[in-house]
Amino acid sequence: MKFFIDTANLEQIIEAQNLGILDGVTTNPSLMAKEGIKGNENILAHYQRICEIVDGDVSAEVISTDYNGMIKEGEILAKLHPRIVVKVPMIKEGIRAIKYFSGKNIRTNCTLVFSPGQALLAAKAGAYYVSPFVGRLDDISFDGMELVAHIVNIYKTYDFKTQVLAASIRNPIHIIKALDAGAHVATCPLDAILGLLKHPLTDIGLQKFLEDYSRVTS
Ligand code: E4P
Repeated sequence: MKFFIDTANLEQIIEAQNLGILDGVTTNPSLMAKEGIKGNENILAHYQRICEIVDGDVSAEVISTDYNGMIKEGEILAKLHPRIVVKVPMIKEGIRAIKYFSGKNIRTNCTLVFSPGQALLAAKAGAYYVSPFVGRLDDISFDGMELVAHIVNIYKTYDFKTQVLAASIRNPIHIIKALDAGAHVATCPLDAILGLLKHPLTDIGLQKFLEDYSRVTS
């Protein structure tokens, strides 16, 4: 399973990249706004900076909701860097845009996916990634990870090449459940990634090893 970081924060991206386990980055307009990135030129420059830091795919989201606007924006984003994946919302015009991009070999990430039917349309249009939002479904008392497993199963049965990118991941348990569900990718906040490191027995064990070592060497 590939591991993406879900942020537009450069320090966090660098920290994850330096761990040596990062396969890519996802951003969205809210994450860009959180970093105070405003204006088209600054937004494009920020994506470029992210692409220079990581080796993997970087999802950059279009803001337009009409077909022509999405095409125009997506083509500009795709030209920025070969690792850019154009993120397109799961709406009717978005599906048309994904179909257009797939014909031009521009990779897409279909975002805001909350049902198997939406995932089917994204795959049929030729999306490279589909992003079911796990946490936001959990928030309204639906099982987000069940959706991930359902989509994985549909894509396997019908041999769709679209990769399932578990998004809206909130904690380390979500990451492990995404593995179990067969997701191709999980995009996670840095805290959730670092949370995987934690186990009290590791801390206790390490402390004991160091104490025993210092007893025989001092
Ligand atoms: C990433 O592709 C999504 O935009 C992101 O995971 C959404 O996460 P949130 O539901 O925590 O905002």
